Amino acid sequence: MSLTLIANWKLHGSKSFSRDWLNSFNDSYQGSSLSSIGIAPPSIFIDDLTKHIDNPGISIGSQNVDHFPSGARTGEISADMVADAGGQFSLAGHSERRIFFQETNADIALKLDLISESSLIPILCIGESIDEKDQNKTEIILEQQIIESLSAGSKLQNLIIAYEPVWAIGSGSSAAPEEINSIHKLIKDIVQSRFSALDLQGVIYGGSVNIENAFPILEEEEVDGALIGGASLNGEEFAKIANIFNELKEL
Ligand code: PGA
Repeated sequence: MSLTLIANWKLHGSKSFSRDWLNSFNDSYQGSSLSSIGIAPPSIFIDDLTKHIDNPGISIGSQNVDHFPSGARTGEISADMVADAGGQFSLAGHSERRIFFQETNADIALKLDLISESSLIPILCIGESIDEKDQNKTEIILEQQIIESLSAGSKLQNLIIAYEPVWAIGSGSSAAPEEINSIHKLIKDIVQSRFSALDLQGVIYGGSVNIENAFPILEEEEVDGALIGGASLNGEEFAKIANIFNELKEL
């Protein structure tokens, strides 16, 4: 099964935070299957977290990997290292990486190939800025991000895309559910028409998803899950969102 709900802890956490989080999550989670849930802690905690998950159904992954497999790259972490630590997936191209670390679509294409070669599930994050949205450029920007990140000669066979409008991330106000639905449909159409051999396992939404708005967003037909930042730091809230998702999609 593909990943559907992913917690992105960003630059938060500690070993004791992980334990407390898992306890709160387990106390509130009502589903029987965990196999579609992922947690992306800071990479340094991947190894510890994998050892403390009672139910091996939860996947642990990385928020980023370097676009080189090895070398003189002080401070970086490779996709192989994430896999070696027990990781099972990695994000690539999160807007915070694009903005704060100047990641380009070309870098992201290299990352996706390395993630896939390391047998991790690749999750490509895309999304338009508020200026791009205001100038009605959403479609063109998403298409460009997809095409340039899935470069010619790419070895990718399967992929999850996270649609995360930059203006909705951490802002407290998500995109409107119908808008998300139509953009997810657009993303699926672009991938299908340009990369028909690629198995797109789902398009998930990210940007201020929380317990209040999870239901209307997740109930949209083309929304296959969510990538959750702020609200995922609370194990109980994340579990409750997962309960809503399971109920809606009848898992
Ligand atoms: P948010 O972050 O849920 O805090 O908006 C989502 C993300 O950046 O992945």
